[in-house]
Amino acid sequence: MALKHATPMLDELEKGPWPSFVTDIKRVAARKPMCEDLLGLVEMSYEHKEGHWKHGGIVGVFGYGGGVIGRYCDRPDLFPNVAHFHTMRVNQPASKFYTTEVLRKLCDIWEEHGSGLTNMHGSTGDLILLGTTTDQLEPVFYRLTHELGMDLGGSGSNMRTPEGCVGKARCEWSCLDTQDIIYDITMRYQDELHRPMFPYKFKFKASGCPNDCVAAIARADCSIIGTWRDKIRIDQEAVRAYVGGELVPNGGSHGVEKRKLDIQKEVIDLCPTRCMEWDGKNLKIWDEDCTRCMHCINVMPRALRPGTDVGATILCGAKAPILEGAQLSSVIIPFMKMEPPYEEFHEFVEKMWDWWMEHGKNRERLGELIQRLGLREFLKAVEVQPDPRMVNTTRYNPYIFYDPADVPGGWERDAKSFRERHHA
Ligand code: HEM
Ligand code: SF4
Ligand code: SF4
Repeated sequence: MALKHATPMLDELEKGPWPSFVTDIKRVAARKPMCEDLLGLVEMSYEHKEGHWKHGGIVGVFGYGGGVIGRYCDRPDLFPNVAHFHTMRVNQPASKFYTTEVLRKLCDIWEEHGSGLTNMHGSTGDLILLGTTTDQLEPVFYRLTHELGMDLGGSGSNMRTPEGCVGKARCEWSCLDTQDIIYDITMRYQDELHRPMFPYKFKFKASGCPNDCVAAIARADCSIIGTWRDKIRIDQEAVRAYVGGELVPNGGSHGVEKRKLDIQKEVIDLCPTRCMEWDGKNLKIWDEDCTRCMHCINVMPRALRPGTDVGATILCGAKAPILEGAQLSSVIIPFMKMEPPYEEFHEFVEKMWDWWMEHGKNRERLGELIQRLGLREFLKAVEVQPDPRMVNTTRYNPYIFYDPADVPGGWERDAKSFRERHHA
């Protein structure tokens, strides 16, 4: 059917095999004028090669300081239906498992109050309802909470919506109940999520193992990554089946046809610590040297499994480049048991926040504060002892600070007594 605006450039993007967002939006535009105008506006942006949203936008729901990202088009004269085009972040269930019943109800609500467009999901994890007007925010919020028992997610200088990998729900490698951990953090820190009280944003993510399928180490100020501290469980029979070509390596990721695994070349020689040995019959792992990189387990999932003494490594500080450069999280707690009610973890989180809320500058991420005041100060604040596992390598420069309490005699020196021994 004919839409209001001509979109010759966008139309090009209906070609090709990938699901076309243009085709999808057009389908909704047939019944939603907001989408019609959105297509027109985006076409204009393609033409001008610049965005056509005004700067910023502050809207929300009463009681909360975040959760809605306000947005206004800069040509409401041409595209009045997207004069307001706010985004609502809805807190997704951990790992994004849904029933069709929930999704249908959500769609009904959004069909009535919004553009009908969504983002499934935002990078942080939220279910994104894309485009509505200010007067619809409270009604959507009312219906989400009253009809679905769902709440808004986070935005602003607060705890953002936490997310985890599929974990134990569908993965044999998970050392953590990621859904439970994420749900626990989300519920315990609802206040911190809904009402910004921090120097800047703060994110949690939990992965069940070091494969890190939610990319916690790169995208969370506090990354929770599952690990184990006992031995990798080996089924020697199954290892021989891989070597004999009965089992397909890597679960078939590199081709599902049966072939012999060259265990020496594909596993032993690729182990980063060279702590494995294959004698032609049995696989030996010197677990004391294993860094739990997951490689051998990834190649032979039917033969090798993580140990049973499981927990998490807690890492802190990841962030994108602005201001002081991109960071991955650094190890702060090499191993922590993660079992309900997660008291040890909560204590850590609250000490970490106390320190950052007190010392963090305006719009300074935790990673930058650690850089500015030093890992030593952070460790003191969270009452964690320094550990060699926290560093890649020791420092090369000798500009080492000492605590005067650790130095015999302290810093108070008397020049006169020095001069008695060293005449000027
Ligand atoms: C009481 C005695 C000394 C004092 C107060 C002193 C103080 C300093 C200071 C303040 C700096 C500048 C550091 C910086 O800019 O970051 C410096 C640099 C330096 N000092 Fe000393 N110094 C003393 C003795 C010595 C001695 C005995 C040597 C050599 C035998 C020495 C060799 C150097 C060198 C090579 C640098 C330059 C390092 C660099 O910039 O890479 N200093 N010193
Ligand atoms: S991070 Fe590990 S446990 Fe989680 S889904 Fe990926 S492989 Fe499985
Ligand atoms: S998990 Fe990694 S470090 Fe450990 S034995 Fe396997 S390949 Fe080696």
